[in-house]
Amino acid sequence: MATILIHPDTQSAIRATAERLLQAVQGDHDAVLGLATGGTMEPVYHQLVRRADEARLSFAGVTTFNLDEYVGLAADHPQSYRSTMNRLLFDHVDIPRNQTYLPRGDAQDPSAEAIAYEAAIEAAGGIDLQLLGIGRNGHLGFNEPSSSLASRTRIKKLARSTLEANARFFGAGERMPTHAITMGIGTIMKARKLLMLAMGASKADAVAAALEGPVTAACPASILQFHPDVTVVLDQEAASCL
Ligand code: GLP
Repeated sequence: MATILIHPDTQSAIRATAERLLQAVQGDHDAVLGLATGGTMEPVYHQLVRRADEARLSFAGVTTFNLDEYVGLAADHPQSYRSTMNRLLFDHVDIPRNQTYLPRGDAQDPSAEAIAYEAAIEAAGGIDLQLLGIGRNGHLGFNEPSSSLASRTRIKKLARSTLEANARFFGAGERMPTHAITMGIGTIMKARKLLMLAMGASKADAVAAALEGPVTAACPASILQFHPDVTVVLDQEAASCL
């Protein structure tokens, strides 16, 4: 069952999302959080850091698993999702670095890395709360349209529209990775709770297809309709096609 929260403005959507993450840690100091990257999440992590500081909330017992990482980028590459997460969140809370997991983009054998990542999630007891954004084409993580709805962590080729959307994060002469290691749709669906945030008009079509369209691999986020505990936080613009 989806709970859809339409906020009057973007700031309150961001605050509400950060507050739910905060509450997950307040309610369970050993929570296993699934985290996401993308422009949507940057202000959420700013807000979470601020609120955690105000509440003097410790993340010492928390474990995190990010959705995805670019294949070919080492952890210290400025555009790796590992660097991004360090910069936005992990450097600002007291979470031990060895409790923060992302797939290693520079693994010798990316397929073996993907299998090991899935096993690490299982070994941690599964994900309590998975944060999600949504791609303009309805992707979750880097599960592009046509991804198997039962898929587990694996390598995916990025869609042209995703390459275009994410090119803004890379410098002019820089080559953008073409593949990613991503949790599968099946992996995401195993999380006990899902929390999706979408903001802005560019997401309105994808949000409508995900929440009101047919459940189909053509819009991977449509699988959320089958999750028993999903909250979707939207601003007015992202909700404008519902
Ligand atoms: C990225 C990420 C997704 C994210 C989505 C939207 O490529 N892999 O996890 O939700 O695309 O990104 P943005 O928030 O920048 O629109």
